Amino acid sequence: MSFPENFVWGAAAASYQIEGNTGEGTGVTSIWDEFCRQPDIIFDKSSGAVACDHFHRYADDVQLMVALGLKAYRLSFSWARIMPDGENVSEPGMAFYDKLIDELLAGHITPYVTLYHWDMPHALQLKGGYLNREIVRYFEKYVEAVAKRFSQRVKHWVTVNEPINYICCGYWTGSHAPGWKLPIRDVLHGWHHALLCHGAAVKILRRYGDAGTQIGAAITGWGYIPADENNSADIEAARRKNFECEKFRSIAGWADPMIFGAYPDSWYKFWGKDTPKVDPADMKMIAQKLDYFGTNIYFAHTCRATGDGRMELVNPPINTPRSAANWPITPAAMRWLPTFYFERYKLPVIILENGICDAEFPDREGRVHDACRVNHMHLYLGELRKAIESGVDIRGYFHWSLLDNFEWIEGYTRRFGLIHVDHKTQKRTPKDSAQVYREIIRSNGAIVAGESGMAGERGA
Ligand code: BGC
Repeated sequence: MSFPENFVWGAAAASYQIEGNTGEGTGVTSIWDEFCRQPDIIFDKSSGAVACDHFHRYADDVQLMVALGLKAYRLSFSWARIMPDGENVSEPGMAFYDKLIDELLAGHITPYVTLYHWDMPHALQLKGGYLNREIVRYFEKYVEAVAKRFSQRVKHWVTVNEPINYICCGYWTGSHAPGWKLPIRDVLHGWHHALLCHGAAVKILRRYGDAGTQIGAAITGWGYIPADENNSADIEAARRKNFECEKFRSIAGWADPMIFGAYPDSWYKFWGKDTPKVDPADMKMIAQKLDYFGTNIYFAHTCRATGDGRMELVNPPINTPRSAANWPITPAAMRWLPTFYFERYKLPVIILENGICDAEFPDREGRVHDACRVNHMHLYLGELRKAIESGVDIRGYFHWSLLDNFEWIEGYTRRFGLIHVDHKTQKRTPKDSAQVYREIIRSNGAIVAGESGMAGERGA
């Protein structure tokens, strides 16, 4: 079977990870520019100041997308570029996205725009960032400006990318910008404010949008799949575990408020007296109608039922391969997680990110044979197709990432691109996987093999 008609085949990237032209001397300073300045934070002591220089090379990059046959491209707008001081629109910032969006449309590529992929203006961090409830008002200003300018041309929106990461890693563990390590009580306030920003953005986008406007968020958490797919108790254990709040790694702690207008009971239970007092009007604001459930899926943990009503994590089976980032390769995540999300939230699902980090580099002919990514793509897409065949409404898939880019605290040491980037010369080289993805898109997924030597490992 092919994928459904009109299935959206895309690739994704984010502003700070590819654009460059940010930081010192540019008039654009985000929290990531500031964070990268701190000693020994970024693995290779780099930053996104130059990144893939997409800011200057966007037109050529769009041509690479056209050559790939992409139907859609998920980009993010940099809040810091558009509103460097958090208050006023920068015309050159807007103009960059004007040109980029026009170029995409000219290439018949549908833009999916993420409003927040982690680059808040530093000026707003100085006012407390997400800890300050005023952040909602600032975000509204930004979204209003963007919606006004782009809503005729952009119909597909992703409000926020992985709030779990910028709130919990940003304010609790300190491993992401702004790098703060605060008591959980404060972090949970930030959590709530981030959700308010999402709700406020949806309201504004709807006001400027029309019947064709599609809005969602990129939600993620830790995913769980059953150890034994033939054991209904294991399946039930995995289903429950996906939506239980435990530490910050919970999808339901974000998706339930956005979709049901309430934090899950397990969220209150886990955090106890540290949870903020929540005004019902806030929950109304957060729970705006969404058109799809957007999610980023890389891998999942394996769990099983213990027989006494509990569940436990088990090691993935022996032979489970791992990526160059040492993440387990668990294709079954691509079937089980969208299935669980669809059952619970009853919204069409779009995979907004999926991909793998490789260690490949150009050979003597200058070619990049990333067999691992090709294999990964066939396996994950094969499982996605099975989910679709079983009745899950999945509308699209975005490969992460278009280009090798700035991988946050790992700097340029982790490569997720379909297109290799030489970070000294900025030379782009489409990898083997880019050719394969092009054929997959061209055949609407008919050539997805689905199985490999790993077939026996499914469920891992
Ligand atoms: C983020 C991307 C990141 C990717 C790979 C996702 O969590 O949205 O920005 O590059 O994972 O680590």
